[in-house]
Amino acid sequence: SAKKFRSAVGSDTSNGLFGNMALYSRVSGSVGLITLQNPPVNALSAVVRQSLIDLMDRALSEPEVKSVVICGQNGKFCGGADIKEFRSDMTGPPLVPMIDRLELSSKPVVAAIEGVALGGGLELALGCHYRVAHSKTRLGLPEVTLGLLPGAGGTQRLPRLVGIPAALELITTGRHVTAAEALQLGLVDFVTDHNTIEAAVKLALSVAGKSLDSRRISTCKCPRPPYADALFEEAMQRVRRSARGAIAPVACVQAVHAAATLPFARGMEQEKQLMATLFTSGQARALQYQFFAQRAVSRWSTPSGARWDTSKPRPVHKVAVIGLGTMGRGITVALAQAGLSVVAVETHEKQLMEAKRVVSGMLERGAKRLGAPPALDKINYSCEIQAVADVDLVIEAVFEDMVVKKTVFRQLSAICKPGTFLFTNTSGLDIDELAAQTRNPELVVGMHFFAPAHVMKLLEVVYGRRSSSQAVATAMKIGKNMDKISVAVGNCSGFVGNRMLRPYLDQAFFLLEEGATPELVDQALEEFGFAMGVFRMSDLSGLDIGWKVRKAKEMVSKTHQDCRYSPLGDLLCERGRFGQKTGRGWYQYDKPGGRVAKPDPWLHSFLEKYRAQRGFVARRIDHQEVLERCLYALINEGFRILEDRIASGPEDIDVIYVLGYSWPRHRGGPMFYAQMVGLSRILEKLEYYHQLHLDIPSLQPCSLLRKLVANGRPPIHKWVEVIKNPHSHL
Ligand code: 3HC
Ligand code: NAI
Repeated sequence: SAKKFRSAVGSDTSNGLFGNMALYSRVSGSVGLITLQNPPVNALSAVVRQSLIDLMDRALSEPEVKSVVICGQNGKFCGGADIKEFRSDMTGPPLVPMIDRLELSSKPVVAAIEGVALGGGLELALGCHYRVAHSKTRLGLPEVTLGLLPGAGGTQRLPRLVGIPAALELITTGRHVTAAEALQLGLVDFVTDHNTIEAAVKLALSVAGKSLDSRRISTCKCPRPPYADALFEEAMQRVRRSARGAIAPVACVQAVHAAATLPFARGMEQEKQLMATLFTSGQARALQYQFFAQRAVSRWSTPSGARWDTSKPRPVHKVAVIGLGTMGRGITVALAQAGLSVVAVETHEKQLMEAKRVVSGMLERGAKRLGAPPALDKINYSCEIQAVADVDLVIEAVFEDMVVKKTVFRQLSAICKPGTFLFTNTSGLDIDELAAQTRNPELVVGMHFFAPAHVMKLLEVVYGRRSSSQAVATAMKIGKNMDKISVAVGNCSGFVGNRMLRPYLDQAFFLLEEGATPELVDQALEEFGFAMGVFRMSDLSGLDIGWKVRKAKEMVSKTHQDCRYSPLGDLLCERGRFGQKTGRGWYQYDKPGGRVAKPDPWLHSFLEKYRAQRGFVARRIDHQEVLERCLYALINEGFRILEDRIASGPEDIDVIYVLGYSWPRHRGGPMFYAQMVGLSRILEKLEYYHQLHLDIPSLQPCSLLRKLVANGRPPIHKWVEVIKNPHSHL
């Protein structure tokens, strides 16, 4: 719209100078308009910063120019500092003095904010004297999600502008706010539904020559409520509780505290010091790696050569969901919220009515949150599978039972119109076996959601041997429409996420046999940063689910001679201890459905008897052993997955683990963590534990791990070269 407005007002293009990465023009005679130009998000790279300084100097030196407007090209104000620059030597002028100089300007500067003003982008706007935003803009200081703090004055200016409570919340969570909320907070001065730059220029004209004394945020006093100390105390406790070991949220509180207690210049010094510690931390590296990994997974490829950029998705308008249990309901909600028409099918009338009630409730609550009408009319409910005859795509979510699923796939293949995609939400069954039941196996793909399906960001898109690239591309596109992050992975038992979980869970059980308690194992994992340890998680999701699967695979009844198997979970289930739902599991609860886990003396004595009967001698197990055994076994399986080409790179695994399995984001993901720990160390420890437990094959180091160590431990982004070229000598 900058371009449109410039031509509308007849900008002084003869005087226009194409600055490198920022454009200068004169509008309405006396307003200097600076447009940031650095697609796709106008990030403040070194060149952009330099051009901004040069163009600001030019605006100040031109006597005809009485005020300045700063905007961003293509309807995006600015996405902040250029994160790609963080890993190289920083060059170019630093942001802080640049923003300080802007604020000191004798001519009023107005930020015309469209699209996004995030991080350094919002800090730039805070250095301006006025802020005008389009109603669709999102604003925020998301640095904390990258392991940083708003280090260009954001921690000092924001509390001065919006007060301590709001600043603390925004800076420690990184939450984006809408323009309406920003106006309410006082973060922007004016919101428009129309041309933002036009509105900003109008404002710039009206304030030309007026005093800027009260408009320079750095000169304002930080409002300090009488209960400020308690506020900081409470904020510190909250972030320590929820940060799961992340250091940035804590530093954010400290920086805002500095704003509340120190003069601006000293507060800025504090901000700088805290930022310096964060900037070089492993956590910041991990979080920034995750940021790019979450974007990289959309550029998927398969070992057979199908790729994101050469595969076109087919348009989809109408989708069927089969089976409206826990997952089917969430999937229905996610699809309807994405604007798709849904045919929701359940076998039993009663179950169907119940599902309808629950889905409608979920949609209504979602609508309230989003401020949009609930998409209730997008859904048609039916007990008849024939109702799916004219849909473009089916997502099957019936029981996790191969026999049931095969029947459903045969039915679907007969009923659906030709070309209908048949996707399954199985959490680990063989996609090829299901595809083989249909006339067109190339249309079958796994679409593995995570519970609750309308909330969780992750989707594993599982391609089978015969899945077409168009089917994969369509699944990825539907995922994006539902606002999910989709990772394309190959077909194997458990796919990526659940396959890696197996050895992790096994180790936790074995540790109980060897002397640990559920409390000890969970504590070690929770201190590491998982939202919940193995046993609290198992109690929450229900021990009976895994038991059913193990029984179906005949693992429970089998004799396990060469390969260690712990029947502890089965023994608890046989005693009716299914977890929270029965009030007893690995812990005890005050009642069935209770949520507060308490250590259970019964379980401890049960473990003692179990060990005595089976010849285990309990020994002292420490947190380090818990972490090494559980995490390194999981990581080892991750290397196997890479070697088998089930995942196309370590980023895929790391995104799956952070978004689907509560792996602490500030540790990057299991494969990134392996790199941080050091591949030689992981190998050494796996060898050590495998020697002690020769009956646990998952502890045997995978050959890819050995190869990477032998190749001189290349950095994570080079692992794929070693996988693709087994003879590679990096
Ligand atoms: N620096 C460098 N690259 C960036 C970037 C940034 N700040 N923001 C986005 N990009 C890149 C992405 O990596 C992506 O690249 P790709 O196409 O090669 O994958 C491309 O821009 C488009 O990004 P998205 O796919 O995320 O596009 P969306 O339209 O979905 O989202 C966005 C746009 C909301 C701006 C989102 O990209 C985002 O949240 N960006 C990060 C914002 C942020 O965290 N800013 C703070 C930076 S740190 C800082 O400012 C420090 C300061 O306080 C000193
Ligand atoms: P669920 O038992 O809650 O729901 C299954 C539903 O399917 C029931 O309502 C049942 O009546 C219905 N159903 C069974 N046969 C049917 C048929 N022929 N036609 C129509 N409806 C039929 O199960 P849940 O947990 O929703 O799981 C469904 C699928 O999702 C399974 O494959 C499971 O492995 C997978 N999954 C489950 C996750 C979870 O956390 N629960 C996570 C990810 C995937």
